[in-house]
Order: sequence, then C-alpha cells, then structure tokens
Amino acid sequence: MQWKVGFIGTGDERRAGPMGYGMAHQHAKGYQLLGDRVTMTCCCDIVPERVERFSTLYGIPRTYGSHHDMLRQEKLDLVSICTWPHSHYQLVMDTIQAGVKAVHCEKPMAFTWGECRSMTAAAAEHGVRLTFNHQRRFGAPFRQAKELLDAGEIGKLEQVQWGAGDVYDYGSHNWDMCSYFNDHTPVQWVLGQVHYTEENFVFNVHNENQASAIWQYENGVFGLLSTGLGRNLVGCHHRIIGSEGEIAIGPRWDGSVLQIRKRGGSQFEDVDCGEDHCHGPGYVERAIADVVAAIENGTESELCAANALLASEPMFAAWESARRRCRIELPLNHDGNALDEMVKNGELSPG
Ligand SMILES: NC(=O)c1ccc[n+]([C@@H]2O[C@H](COP(=O)([O-])OP(=O)(O)OC[C@H]3O[C@@H](n4cnc5c(N)ncnc54)[C@H](O)[C@@H]3O)[C@@H](O)[C@H]2O)c1
Repeated sequence: MQWKVGFIGTGDERRAGPMGYGMAHQHAKGYQLLGDRVTMTCCCDIVPERVERFSTLYGIPRTYGSHHDMLRQEKLDLVSICTWPHSHYQLVMDTIQAGVKAVHCEKPMAFTWGECRSMTAAAAEHGVRLTFNHQRRFGAPFRQAKELLDAGEIGKLEQVQWGAGDVYDYGSHNWDMCSYFNDHTPVQWVLGQVHYTEENFVFNVHNENQASAIWQYENGVFGLLSTGLGRNLVGCHHRIIGSEGEIAIGPRWDGSVLQIRKRGGSQFEDVDCGEDHCHGPGYVERAIADVVAAIENGTESELCAANALLASEPMFAAWESARRRCRIELPLNHDGNALDEMVKNGELSPG
C-alpha cells in the first residue's frame, strides 16, 4: 500500500527563523526517505510562490491555494499540517472531516486547551490517527537518557526539570520530554507564575517573558521549569534527578550533550550520542517514519494525540495557575489560553 500524502502550509525553508522555519520541508524530507511506501501527491499554501517552490523541490504534482479545495479534490491518506498554532484546530478538524486515515500536525497542539481536547475527541470519533510533531523523542540524547533511567543507573526517578525560552512554543517539546521520561504518568497539580511586560509573539501567539512552575505527577515525581531570564537556573536543557544520581541533557558546561552521574559515582561522565544534539539532525525524519510505520502496522505512534495531551495540559495549567494565583489541580477545567486572556482583559500589559 502506498500512502497518499498532502501538505497544508508549506512555508519557505530559506526564511528559517523564529517567524517561520518551513517545517513542511522537514516533513517532506522525512517522507522522501520512505521511498515508495508513500507518495506526496499535493500541497497547499495561501502564498502561491511558497507552494510552487515546495512542489518543485519535492516533485509534488498538484498545488492548491486553499486546503478546502485540496481536501475536496484529493483522496488523501495522510496530511501533514505545518501552519501556525492558531490555525491547527480548524485545519485538523477540516482534515478529519475529509475522511483521511491520519493527520500529522506540528506542535504546539493548539491555541487553547479546549481545542486540544476537541480535536483529539474528533479524531477518535472518526477513527483518524492524530499525531503531533514532538520529534525530540527520537533524538539520541533523549532516548539514551530514558534507557539509562530505565536501567536504574540513577536510582528511582524523583524529579524532571527543564530550562528554555518559554512555556508554550519551545516548552511544548520540553513538557513532552518530561512526560516521556516519567512513562506518560498524568500530572496531578501545577503551580506557576509568569512575568510578561514586553510583547513576545512566537508564531503569532503570546509567550511569557519569564515563567517558573513546579508540578507533581500522579506517581509522586516532581517537575520544575524556569524560562526567559531564568532559563539557565536548571543549568541544562533537561535535568533528570534520581534517588542515587542525575542525568543532564544539553549541559551548559563543556562536554557531551548527555552526561550522567551514576549511582554510587561522584563525577559526571559523558555519554556518546554520535552526531545527535538537542535539535537533530534527522529527528523530524525519524518522527515521520514512526508516524507512517504506526499506520502500516496498526500500532500507536509515540506522537499520538493522547501523549500530546499529557504534555499540553500542564502547559496551559501553568498559565492558568499564574492567573488564578493558586495551585491548579488537574484535570484542567479551563478550556482557554490564560496568558492570552490576561493580555486581552488587561491583567497583563506587554508593551
Ligand atoms: N517541531 C519543531 O521543532 C518546530 C520547529 C519550528 C516550528 N514548529 C511549528 O511548526 C508550525 C509551523 O511553523 P513554520 O515555522 O513551519 O511556519 P512557516 O511560516 O514557515 O510556514 C507556515 C506556512 O503556512 C501557511 N499557511 C497559513 N495558513 C494557511 C492555510 N490556512 N492554508 C494553507 N497554508 C497556510 C503560511 O503561508 C506559511 O507559508 C508552528 O506551529 C510552529 O510552532 C515546530
């Protein structure tokens, strides 16, 4: 069976920067690597020169300026959605309605928590596989960290920590990795605070200037994050603390991208991750391979919506906690996007 693939939002990879990376190009390279297991049949973008360039680069025969036209005229199995977060919900819903087998959408899942839940429910109702591109799961530093953790090299898991620019855009990956390290255990509560005085739109969504949060999973494991000015508090990209040792991914100090202080040891040692660093190379390609293999084998991809929900709920809860000035017990009962709402109602005034 050759799966027919379409794209919504091609972008332009030459712009690659915080207001557009052209992620669809990375998806396309992933599909290319799968040879004749897939065929990229069509693509659409609202900017004509982008969709034309994309079609030429990857030999995709048909282009569209509207996803409605594309979904109406094509019989697609799998659609990659690579637009900005505000549009994910509607595009995912339209694609599900079109009768595809699978949708692979970029992260963050959606603009609001309610949208995340609704599209997951719609996919389940229509029997559509819905996945989100949290591709770091396929990187050697993250994979090997999990293997070392599972092998008991740092004792029992006690804490997961991360430092990054923001809670939502970049943070979406980091929440997902914490969930992965802790075997997808649901979060029980989140306590968060934000600082937001200078407008910080990332892909047209407000992201705080600085945030701190702590949380606890249902199995007792604690989490801690620090963003913005406090991003270096944790001292690395991710820190995994066990009862008898520690793993650091993407350390700030010189050395390997993965370091471990093993049970009984006093020094950190480097762990060889080959060419892989925190962002790649090849992570998106591996994510695409996992998504397609799951369709072929009738299994669940690691990038499934259920896992993405586990990453997204505490993310929205951290902002909601800042708004309500209290600890938020999950499940989160606020369907919106608290940071955006605080800006709109004047509680926050980023200049
Ligand atoms: N997985 C990752 O590591 C990673 C990295 C960067 C960005 N992203 C995410 O990928 C998503 C896309 O980001 P990007 O950097 O590829 O953006 P981009 O701006 O490069 O590409 C998005 C494209 O979508 C098009 N578009 C917008 N609305 C459309 C519509 N209704 N129909 C068809 N086309 C439409 C735009 O014209 C644009 O060309 C965002 O959610 C972003 O957060 C993920």
